[in-house]
Amino acid sequence: MMSHEIRQKFLDFFASKDHAIIKSAPIVPENDASVLFNIAGMQPLVPYLLGEAHPEGKRLANLQKCIRTIDIEEVGDSRHLTFFEMMGNWSLGDYFKTEAINWSYELLTDLEVGFGLDPNRLYVTCFEGDEDAPKDEESAKIWEDIFKKNGVSTNRIFFLPKKNNWWSAGENGPCGPDTEMFYDITGKHRDGLDLEEYLKLDDRGELVEIWNDVFMEYLKKDGKIISKLQTKNVDTGSGFERIVMMVQGVNSVYETDIFKPVLEKIESLVTNKNIAEFEKVKSSRIIADHVRTAVIMLSDGVIFSNTDQGYILRRLIRRALRHADVLGLSENSLYMIADIFTDYYKEVYENVAKQKETIKVAISAEEKKFRKALIQGIKEFNKIVAHNKEENLNTIDSQKVFTLFESYGFPIEMIEELATENKLTIDKLEFDQLFKIHQDNSRAGAEKKFKGGLAGDGVLEVKYHTATHLLHQALRMVLGEAVQQKGSNITTERLRFDFAFDRKMTDEEKTKVENIVNEKIKASLPVNMVTLPKEEAIESGALHFFADKYGDMVNVYFMGENLEDAFSKEFCGGPHVKNTGELGIFKIAKEEAVSQGVRRIKAVLE
Ligand code: ALA
Repeated sequence: MMSHEIRQKFLDFFASKDHAIIKSAPIVPENDASVLFNIAGMQPLVPYLLGEAHPEGKRLANLQKCIRTIDIEEVGDSRHLTFFEMMGNWSLGDYFKTEAINWSYELLTDLEVGFGLDPNRLYVTCFEGDEDAPKDEESAKIWEDIFKKNGVSTNRIFFLPKKNNWWSAGENGPCGPDTEMFYDITGKHRDGLDLEEYLKLDDRGELVEIWNDVFMEYLKKDGKIISKLQTKNVDTGSGFERIVMMVQGVNSVYETDIFKPVLEKIESLVTNKNIAEFEKVKSSRIIADHVRTAVIMLSDGVIFSNTDQGYILRRLIRRALRHADVLGLSENSLYMIADIFTDYYKEVYENVAKQKETIKVAISAEEKKFRKALIQGIKEFNKIVAHNKEENLNTIDSQKVFTLFESYGFPIEMIEELATENKLTIDKLEFDQLFKIHQDNSRAGAEKKFKGGLAGDGVLEVKYHTATHLLHQALRMVLGEAVQQKGSNITTERLRFDFAFDRKMTDEEKTKVENIVNEKIKASLPVNMVTLPKEEAIESGALHFFADKYGDMVNVYFMGENLEDAFSKEFCGGPHVKNTGELGIFKIAKEEAVSQGVRRIKAVLE
């Protein structure tokens, strides 16, 4: 059975059970800014699960486009994907456990109207009960009856805790116990298993989750179950690509007809003959997965950028390009791969058909933009590796990591991956620290760089960074030591500084702060940095509000000739200007409350 047929069979099955077939919502949630992408079929339906009437009725089914980047590290194995279609059927206060479970079984196993999977390879789990909800004996009994009726051993029903058998999309919203279905890919255990064996096989990945029936009758708020919902609902989800893999009897999603033509194409394009087979397989799969996800994102209107969804898109294509480079694929190979996917998905999604050309052109443009930086960045990276090996260092200097990220546009996971391949590590916490300080800097900077070569353009942001240190110290002098940094954000236009303080500043205080900062700018203090053992750095009086994030050795930036009597000293990753004299005139543009006990200053340099 080809994948398009399987898709249709699912829809026909639920249509025959009086379900309205609804369209997939776009991949970017329309009315929910709390997540970047839909992660489950139920997400666009949350208002209806909470009680609103759905225009199409109480029984719905569809294939919903989903993206889960949380699994990105796993991509390359046999079955993890960043994009997948989730087949789902819903009851909005209509049918409940009996129908839902019986239909799941029928669709999975029936030879005619269903997928014809072997019931002897099926395992199911049910909720074991806790203070929020009772043990789900009802679901277990329904399963037992089904297995008995079909002459299948019942040693395949297990009770597990909330961690396994309770589903919600996050900390808030509809949720409930679920019953999950697994398929034994080895086909070796026809008479069933005991719990211990079951857990062992699950752990080894020999049992693959293929469907989840959630019985949504509870409401969660801030992580706690607070009440029952108005109605008892059913929310089910079955990963389409995995089902296709089981139905087609292949060992990985990449061998299904969804991916096979692409993997064959990649194979034909490989020019690196020295690569180990397992590396080739992994890189090929990563390229295939990431390009496919990019095609879907682009078809739903996501554009390459350095923020939010657009940045995820960018990271996927850059990582794919890195692996294309590993395999020695020629320029424009991602374009050719995207072409195969657009051909496949144009049958399923109208907007892929409509935008086939734009999608490919966008991928190709990003490829052109990044190729050059990639080649230079890899050279830079190889130098770092040689240096670390020579000096016997396991961890790559965070400043160098940051340069790869900032100047060459390497996504952090890509650097991490490169490091791991060379048996090196990176200090993620230290990087995050640098990243936070330069968040806007790096994004705005990277945009410019990829437009016009590799020359950096962070001068303004660096000035604002140094001004932030001056401001911090001036605030402590005027308002007292209770002032503590809570956050900082810099753009080319302004600095923003959040700090702990319990009231509005007076005009007089603001003027005093401005005067101190401007005095220190006029004094043209040199900006220096020393690397010290953490304890010593703390003793020096350097400010350190995120000290636990640092390693044993820390960098302290100070303004003045020497550390002892410097005007400002702070743990920091830099960069800063060489001399405060470069800053211009400092002005507070705004002072306001962010929350109880936290104030925010926006300031400019003129
Ligand atoms: N919402 C459930 C899931 O995603 C069905 O597993």
